[in-house]
Amino acid sequence: MEKRKMILDCDTGHDDAIALMVASKHPQIDLLGVTVVAGNSTLPKTLRNTLNVVQHLGLEVPVYAGCDRPLVRDQDVADDIHGESGLDGPVFPELHIQAQEKHAVLYLIETLLASEGDITLVPVGPLTNIAMAMRLEPKIVPLIKEIVLMGGAVGLGNATPAAEFNIYADPEAAHIVFTSGVPVTMMGLDLTNTALADMKVIERMEALGNKAGKLFGDIMRFTFHSQAVNGLSAGPVHDVTAVTYLVAPELYQTKKMYVQIDTNMQGPCYGRTVCDMNNRYHKEPNVNVGLAIDLEPFWDLVADTLQRHI
Ligand code: RIB
Ligand code: CA
Repeated sequence: MEKRKMILDCDTGHDDAIALMVASKHPQIDLLGVTVVAGNSTLPKTLRNTLNVVQHLGLEVPVYAGCDRPLVRDQDVADDIHGESGLDGPVFPELHIQAQEKHAVLYLIETLLASEGDITLVPVGPLTNIAMAMRLEPKIVPLIKEIVLMGGAVGLGNATPAAEFNIYADPEAAHIVFTSGVPVTMMGLDLTNTALADMKVIERMEALGNKAGKLFGDIMRFTFHSQAVNGLSAGPVHDVTAVTYLVAPELYQTKKMYVQIDTNMQGPCYGRTVCDMNNRYHKEPNVNVGLAIDLEPFWDLVADTLQRHI
């Protein structure tokens, strides 16, 4: 089976780090590059966290720094979940590697323009980099094979009762992406909140006996507790579900529907993904929404992939 070419766009954070660990070693994924955006924390922190994971696991993937703030709204971070560093928990050795000189948005544009339309974008943070690239060079839009993102929700949000963090952090960017015409698959909280790294999962990964398994434990033991604010019994690996969809779509229940982003800054639903589950608007579906995932094979896939690391 031909490898899926993908670019991971992340705001490393805990689940982003696990997503990077899976994307970088799954045998059916060709991870071309990693672009970083402000989100869980400020850009210097999300960039440092990404580079720390790349260096610690000896990954050979270029990292590009992107946008350091949302398109329109004031910046909001999720340090209640991810801690002061944005990746509290693991302790990394001194960082020696650096990001590429080129800005992430220019990397996205140049890579897509040079492609044969066979690259999937996997954004797992605010959509600022993706939206900026689409606006700066509209020619890339028909060249994006698919966007499989972590964000949004059919039901309750987590940043507010109405909005999920990645969308809430830059609703205007999300509007650009969701109305772009690119095929979008959305892994929202209804699905991702079920992918909980409980102690059984953490101990399973730590028992792999390698650096990746230990790093999984150090990372997810931290959010095991911090996610209680969302009423969860353990830390969800939200972002990982966007990566694994590329190689195991059969594990997912999805439904195509019309989804629009509430960009009314004044209202209580700013940043909500309004999902027309019952087609009340009679509009053409623009998003394939993830509703459920078969967790046992999902965790098997994660464990098998982490086993391939050092
Ligand atoms: O709402 C969950 C999302 O917000 C995840 O991508 C997590 O990393 C944070 O960015
Ligand atoms: Ca993220």
